[in-house]
Amino acid sequence: MTYAIIGFGKALAKAFARKGIEVSVATTRDPESFAADAGAIGPTIIPKKLTDAVEADIIFLAVRFESYLDVAKALPTWQGKTIVDVTNAYGVSPEELGGQPSSKFIEQAFSGAKLVKGFNHLIAATLDQDPSVHGGRRVVFLASDDDAAAAEIGTLADNLGFSPIKLGGLSEGGLLVQARGNSWGHLIFKDLVKFD
Ligand SMILES: NC(=O)c1ccc[n+]([C@@H]2O[C@H](COP(=O)([O-])OP(=O)(O)OC[C@H]3O[C@@H](n4cnc5c(N)ncnc54)[C@H](OP(=O)(O)O)[C@@H]3O)[C@@H](O)[C@H]2O)c1
Repeated sequence: MTYAIIGFGKALAKAFARKGIEVSVATTRDPESFAADAGAIGPTIIPKKLTDAVEADIIFLAVRFESYLDVAKALPTWQGKTIVDVTNAYGVSPEELGGQPSSKFIEQAFSGAKLVKGFNHLIAATLDQDPSVHGGRRVVFLASDDDAAAAEIGTLADNLGFSPIKLGGLSEGGLLVQARGNSWGHLIFKDLVKFD
């Protein structure tokens, strides 16, 4: 399994580095321009061009919501890939989204991909920290209309040291982690730790 983060989400990259798991990172810029930043996080953080990074099996979409269409254009089809939607469409009017969760729009744009909403409810400064907290593990919420994809990202979250909690479909429990207009889903910013 191969991984990429589109938009250089340093907090996410750190989570991979902490466990020694290789992940590509890409922005709109030449990879050489952020190679030093990637290297400072760890040797498993590999800067790439967007066109190369999207070859990964599992792709974290960590750009501003407004930029998702630009990323979606990078491939004609996203068949066989899983997109983890880390965006928060805060401030985007519900009318603009036809009343649907923003993740549904992203799912349509990345045609053929399985979509999981996740890793978006914590601010970067919190996600940045070691998820082992007082003997428990920091919770990440996952929502998807595809149970197998949610399970796949749940396994990855486990491997990264988090405690994944599945919320169900995007339009059901998933609404708890979707920003809507100028309001936040009720679970966004809730920094929870699970003790097994
Ligand atoms: N910051 C947080 O605390 C936080 C928490 C939870 C969720 N989020 C969500 O995560 C997303 C990113 O937030 P952020 O604060 O990291 O935003 P940001 O500081 O604006 O960073 C955006 C990143 O995306 C890259 N990018 C922009 N357009 C791109 C494109 N077309 N192709 C590839 N890369 C592109 C930018 O690289 P360039 O240098 O090339 O522009 C930059 O690395 C947002 O949707 C936000 O809502 C953020």
